[in-house]
Amino acid sequence: MREPRLIRLHQHDAASLGDEAKAGLLQVPARVSPKFFYDALGSCLFDAITELDEYYPTRTEAAILAHHGAAIAAAARSRLGSGATLVDLGAGDGAKAARLFPLLQPARYLAVDISAAFLGAALQALQLRHPALEIIGVGLDFSARLALPEGLLDGPALVFYPGSSIGNFAPAEALRLLREARALASGGALLIGVDLLKPVAVLEAAYDDALGVTAAFNLNLLRHLNRLLGADFALRQWRHRAFFNVQRACIEMHLHAREALTVSWPGGRRDFAAGEAVHTEDSFKWARADFEALLREAGFARVHSWTDERDWFAVMLAEA
Ligand code: AVI
Repeated sequence: MREPRLIRLHQHDAASLGDEAKAGLLQVPARVSPKFFYDALGSCLFDAITELDEYYPTRTEAAILAHHGAAIAAAARSRLGSGATLVDLGAGDGAKAARLFPLLQPARYLAVDISAAFLGAALQALQLRHPALEIIGVGLDFSARLALPEGLLDGPALVFYPGSSIGNFAPAEALRLLREARALASGGALLIGVDLLKPVAVLEAAYDDALGVTAAFNLNLLRHLNRLLGADFALRQWRHRAFFNVQRACIEMHLHAREALTVSWPGGRRDFAAGEAVHTEDSFKWARADFEALLREAGFARVHSWTDERDWFAVMLAEA
């Protein structure tokens, strides 16, 4: 049986990740990258979020892909032919992409994820179910730069970036990432999920659910930093806050100190006043036409879009 191939590209070591987190904690206001959500427990909490009644993006995107899958695959195949490479950005366990295999019939599946260790196990399981498919895993943190080794893509590719993860980048950074995705997909296409603007109450509930799972997901970042930095965040002293910033068109997530406190780690400390916050995530929401314009600015040509009946989420296929 085939074995998946695993390539690790500049994996961050714990020390350089720790330095990045400490630098963020010392900023005013303090800011820590959302990538620090995803330790083992954080990944489980994110999976739980996707099951919440209030968190509509995952199930809405899945419904669009299920409902319009044949049309999306036909459009992709007319651009790429059959036997192309499917490049999955932020692949996780590869389950979303695997649902597209019967429709797209890729010859190769190239899964890119920040966690090479997690990819390795997931791709072994996927290979068992798809023995004929060539599977390659690439461990890469593409949040700073998306580039694959020369020669890894030898034909047109369909780059798949689902989940509206593009929303976790501010528009200028999203444009940079889309340009890099276009270079990867050159001659092929990008298939991307985009969360759209909608009533503020719907957006805010999705990021502040009644069960408190998103609050736990946000607070878990402090637990992760305690382990990574040897810091002494006391989680009970912090409160989750999520709100829609109308000017920036994004949900902002913060953790607010409930009282004046000091957080220490070996070689450093930071005092927080009562109410002072650590900014942990932005999740930008787009008007469909504005995101289509961003794709064109990034160099994509024709863009096809599919949405749900409420126009809450869009899946876009953009020719590279
Ligand atoms: C991964 N990303 C698209 C999620 C989002 O909706 O921005 C992360 C998330 N944060 C809180 N809930 C979900």
